[in-house]
Amino acid sequence: MERMLKLYVIIINKIEHCYYINIIINIMTTEAMEFKTCTYGDIQIINGDCMEGLHKMANESIDCVITDPPYFIDKLDNNWSSDSIGNDKKNSHIKHLPKGMKFDKKQVKDLYDYYLELSKVLFDKMKPGGYFLSFSSPRLYHSIAMACEIAGFEIRDMINWTYTQSMPKGMSMSHVIQKMDISQDEKDKLIEEYKDFKTPQIRSCFEPICVAMKPIGKLTFIKNELQFKTGLLDFSQKVGIDNDRVPANIITTEAYNDSYDKNFMVSKPTKKEKGESNTHITVKPIALIEHLINLFSKKDSLVFDPFLGSGTTAIACKNTNRRCIGYELNEEYYNICLDRCQ
Ligand SMILES: C[S@@+](CC[C@H](N)C(=O)[O-])C[C@H]1O[C@@H](n2cnc3c(N)ncnc32)[C@H](O)[C@@H]1O
Repeated sequence: MERMLKLYVIIINKIEHCYYINIIINIMTTEAMEFKTCTYGDIQIINGDCMEGLHKMANESIDCVITDPPYFIDKLDNNWSSDSIGNDKKNSHIKHLPKGMKFDKKQVKDLYDYYLELSKVLFDKMKPGGYFLSFSSPRLYHSIAMACEIAGFEIRDMINWTYTQSMPKGMSMSHVIQKMDISQDEKDKLIEEYKDFKTPQIRSCFEPICVAMKPIGKLTFIKNELQFKTGLLDFSQKVGIDNDRVPANIITTEAYNDSYDKNFMVSKPTKKEKGESNTHITVKPIALIEHLINLFSKKDSLVFDPFLGSGTTAIACKNTNRRCIGYELNEEYYNICLDRCQ
């Protein structure tokens, strides 16, 4: 057959103000795909794989990408779910400890490979001068930054989101020493000798945000701005407890000390903003994402988030009059996005 005949069945059910679009039965391959989509004004939330969705977007259509990707630590890869985290039997001895505790060199490479593939596609879909902001962790930042750079983006900066409330991750040695095949006296001596020593994980008190930009080529910043409305940063956006300081590459969302709060504070997250039934474990403060959106995009810009999680970027876009397209693979989290966006 010269052409594959494809039949697409589109069922649109209007449920309240939300459109569920169940697409696609390919009768030649019997392969079935389904994307549930919910639209609230200019905010579109899609339950599906971002990579598949991105390929269908027009080139140079995205103004800004703000995302908090899966870091490929422990169970938090591009297939994560609250079930797989909860049933992590293999690592049961560290189950109760924060994610990211397990050190595995493969995570760095897996994250790099995945992010390089994503960044290459994003490069085509973004406008010149468009900003691509990725949250990351101190230990995995280099994977994200290198992937962006190799895909063609320029690394313009690294923003440090600082916080003090974090759990120490270093493990003490006593329980390992207790299992050693030596006498109890020797164990007690070793435990005493190493009582202040832990595995090499110092308490992590910041998240680096990689600030990459699609190059503007031969255009000047002003010419690029006039053509694409991207590239220049809006310094009317202020930070600090009195909202009178220019944005810096340090941000904090909690009270710390006078100097820090005056210079770097973006308002604190409220208790209510996460939502009562939000089971997601890496929810970002809405004000933090709003600040980044205000600084790195313009009103009516199209902001894309490939990894919505519980939908913080979508909420922040709604609050700042940006258009938003966001993907979330996991249906449980997708439903949380819908709850929070209403
Ligand atoms: C770090 S979380 C984002 C959390 C978000 N910042 C928030 O405030 O809720 C990353 C999310 O990406 C989702 N994810 C992983 N791979 C994906 C993919 N290929 N396409 C779409 N979403 C994906 C995961 O299910 C997870 O919820």
